[in-house]
Amino acid sequence: MLRQVLLSASRSDRVKTLVETAPVTRGLVHRFVAGERAFDAVRVTERLAGEGLFASIDHLGEDTLDAERARATRDAYLTLLRRLDAAGLARRAEVSVKLSAIGRYLPGPGPAIALDHAHAICDAAGRYGTTVTLDMEDHTTTDATLDALRTLRADYPWVGAVLQAYLRRTEADCRDLATTGSRVRLCKGAYDEPASVAFTARADVDRNFVRCLKVLMAGDGYPMVATHDPRLIELTGVLAARNNRATGTYEYQMLYGVRPAEQARLAAQGERVRIYVPYGDQWYGYLMRRLAERPANMTFFLRSLAGRG
Ligand code: FDA
Repeated sequence: MLRQVLLSASRSDRVKTLVETAPVTRGLVHRFVAGERAFDAVRVTERLAGEGLFASIDHLGEDTLDAERARATRDAYLTLLRRLDAAGLARRAEVSVKLSAIGRYLPGPGPAIALDHAHAICDAAGRYGTTVTLDMEDHTTTDATLDALRTLRADYPWVGAVLQAYLRRTEADCRDLATTGSRVRLCKGAYDEPASVAFTARADVDRNFVRCLKVLMAGDGYPMVATHDPRLIELTGVLAARNNRATGTYEYQMLYGVRPAEQARLAAQGERVRIYVPYGDQWYGYLMRRLAERPANMTFFLRSLAGRG
């Protein structure tokens, strides 16, 4: 219930103003977000690389309705990629991109503009020897995102997809995408979705994650297992052994600021672990989804907002 409230608040301008101006917010933002500038993302990537970890960097922002902002987001990715290359980190960090941040919802030719911007970002990533993953947003965008993925993969076969285990369709999508060279990030899913398209009970989402993970780990693609759930992390190891997958033919992914000790433990075992590192000043939607994932985060934050904690 509280999760749904927070997820709908993630799209409310009034709550956004309240949250952005609350003094308690800053500390929480710093827990989950690298900072506001490309410099911060590069600095965090360098630290993670020193700990044997990889990064996927997200320039924060979504649902852009302003062509100038969509262009600025594309340019921010181009600058970031240039700086990663200059710091010798381009092979340690890829980028994660939301199509809604680069213009998908602009009136008229929005989808074509977003695809153009995505092409420019992929072109730069390819030049510097790294990759791009298209983040997945709510279920109304799944088909369009997978269409964009197919188009981009014609030129850049390494572009990664994200599939969300809470969607009923996802096991079939995993079968379609478990092919040679195909990079697929499997996560539980972070949006508020209706029961008509999504499993709503946690246990059902987890069961579907297991079914999807089995398909991906048995397939020919490159699974990117994005979860902090200890049971699913353990199962990934079991499935890797069962499918004779060597380390490096799949990877674990976790969010910046969530279970860092587990990130370090897996890396110390020789596993490939990639951390999703968001940066930028448009952190509101991202923060609200992180709060919604964990009751302890939520309770602390809501109490503080109400001035009681
Ligand atoms: P679950 O939520 O059950 O958490 C398992 C355990 O992990 C918790 O008990 C807690 O210990 C810890 N934990 C999880 N989240 C926490 C948090 N916020 N704060 C503190 N502890 C926490 N979603 C999406 O819809 N589209 C996308 O493109 C992506 N991309 C993406 C990339 C990467 C690298 C990751 C790791 C995740 C995503 N997600 C995403 C988010 C994903 O869908 C999901 O919401 C979160 O990963 C939380 O789900 P878990 O699998 O961790 O399980």
